[in-house]
Amino acid sequence: MLNLVLFGPPGAGKGTQAEFLIENFDLIHLSTGDLLRSEIAAQTELGIQAKSFMDKGELVPDEVVIKMIESKLAANKTAKGFIFDGFPRTVAQAKALDSLLDNNATPVSAMMCLEVEKAELINRLLNRGKTSGRPDDANEAVIENRINIYNVKTMPLINYYEGKGKYRPIKGMGTIEEIALRLKSAVENL
Ligand code: AP5
Ligand code: MG
Repeated sequence: MLNLVLFGPPGAGKGTQAEFLIENFDLIHLSTGDLLRSEIAAQTELGIQAKSFMDKGELVPDEVVIKMIESKLAANKTAKGFIFDGFPRTVAQAKALDSLLDNNATPVSAMMCLEVEKAELINRLLNRGKTSGRPDDANEAVIENRINIYNVKTMPLINYYEGKGKYRPIKGMGTIEEIALRLKSAVENL
């Protein structure tokens, strides 16, 4: 089983690159951001609560996203593997993922970390914001907040996975195709 954590700051290209990886390696894509946006679109209780955090660029509480991942893992027991996109984002989430996967004796294979310069992240997100309708792409202050939260709460996961020998930095600048090739060969070399 191949369980990849696709990691990186907002706008790093996690969602874009996940599309190539699921095709190449026949994996199931689990994006907590996409799952939360579906809950918002369906106007569920969970979605209404999550929206207040997301619109400001704050993290949704750990227990909410952990439960979502737990139920998706339970619903896909025969999968060849998963791409976790935008999850885990805190050390508590990473520990929860480890214990959820250990239950199935199929640990995280690697954490692929897309490295992109801050100015490029802001450009990409403002650009998407012109058409995406995502409130968290609409203004630069919220984008800055998302990047700051990534630096404070999410970056510590680099040490967490490095300590387990699972950290793989990948240059995330360049064309989408160039980055896809880098990722593909990094995964093939695992
Ligand atoms: P989430 O949906 O995960 O958003 P994010 O990580 O902030 O960032 P994005 O998804 O916007 O970026 P991405 O890396 O996927 O890049 P993409 O491929 O889209 O989370 C949203 C919110 O939900 C969070 O703020 C939080 O509130 C909540 N949340 C989610 N997960 C959570 C968790 N685990 N715990 C707590 N809260 C959670 O690319 C971005 C743009 O750039 C696109 O337009 C794309 O076309 C373009 N692009 C991609 N690659 C390139 C390239 N090489 N060159 C030029 N443009 C490119
Ligand atoms: Mg994304």
